[in-house]
Amino acid sequence: MNDLLGRKITYLRLSVIDRCNLRCFYCMPKGGIEAVAHKDILRFEEISRLVRLLAEEIGITKIRLTGGEPLIRRNVLELIRQLGEIEGLRDLVLTTNGLLLGKMAGDLAQAGISRVNVSLDTLRPDRFREICRGGELEPVLEGIRAAKDAGLHPVKINVVLLKGINDDEVGDFIGFAAEEEIEVRFIEFMKIGHAVAHWDENFLPANQVADEMEKKFKLASLPASRTTVKLYKIEGSNGKVGFISSASGDLCEKCNRLRLTSEGLLRPCLMSDSDLDARKLLRSGASDGEIVAAIQNLVSTKGKPACYETSRNMSRIGG
Ligand code: 5AD
Ligand code: SF4
Repeated sequence: MNDLLGRKITYLRLSVIDRCNLRCFYCMPKGGIEAVAHKDILRFEEISRLVRLLAEEIGITKIRLTGGEPLIRRNVLELIRQLGEIEGLRDLVLTTNGLLLGKMAGDLAQAGISRVNVSLDTLRPDRFREICRGGELEPVLEGIRAAKDAGLHPVKINVVLLKGINDDEVGDFIGFAAEEEIEVRFIEFMKIGHAVAHWDENFLPANQVADEMEKKFKLASLPASRTTVKLYKIEGSNGKVGFISSASGDLCEKCNRLRLTSEGLLRPCLMSDSDLDARKLLRSGASDGEIVAAIQNLVSTKGKPACYETSRNMSRIGG
């Protein structure tokens, strides 16, 4: 169905857990986050019922599983299988930090995931441990290769651009994209949750970096879906590189998404404070019709974002 601005809402970002097996400095507090009680997290059958209604009645065709780190949700493969059976869904994709991808890529493909995005901010092991407060780079690289081998094409790498932290690696990442024949996308650092305190120091405009790289590398412009995305083919290779200005531009104007948090809040926007407590509704014995009516009501109010800054953490709302 269409929202307040006439946009067709077809894409659901589904956070299945808010915890992560890394604690990147801009995303998580040092001590990690307080675990949400198990009973407060949506159960698989609750997620499946909601997604079925979203697919049948709202017109959702694409789902991205996120977290936190979706692969640490217990039995996530079973959830993926259940979602894969829902009619009308064409695209079941996943965003992961890649740590468990080496072990799981084959099973994910078999369960019904069609492709993956891997979040990775550095190609240097020591720097990886600094940014993520621990953790090893090598399993992530193995995970990327395993995803390619499992046919989870196209594998895309999301790099959050961080001034003074990884802006000296943009060229290395372009080399990596060329070598591995994958797509590396540089994402602007968003003023969200834990990142607010670091934003002034570490924000770097993606456009500026794109202009610099155009001069340094042989990049051929590709058509992109949005004016805020610059996409290039790296000449002489099948690798691609993209620059995404998330903090500005028409990303919001063309937004076709809904978000569902692991605790069952359905949100029209990352920045939104209006939400639907779908968990409460599901557990109060509401009928399909009642749930659909509540969702329709939420979608019909989805307009422009109220602001471009939020104190809520990315891990809670699902990157
Ligand atoms: N700005 C941009 N991207 C972010 N992520 C987390 N916080 C931010 C931020 N402030 C990305 C990370 C993370 C994914 C879920 O979202 O890559 O792994
Ligand atoms: Fe985990 Fe991604 Fe947050 Fe890092 S940025 S702690 S990998 S969710």
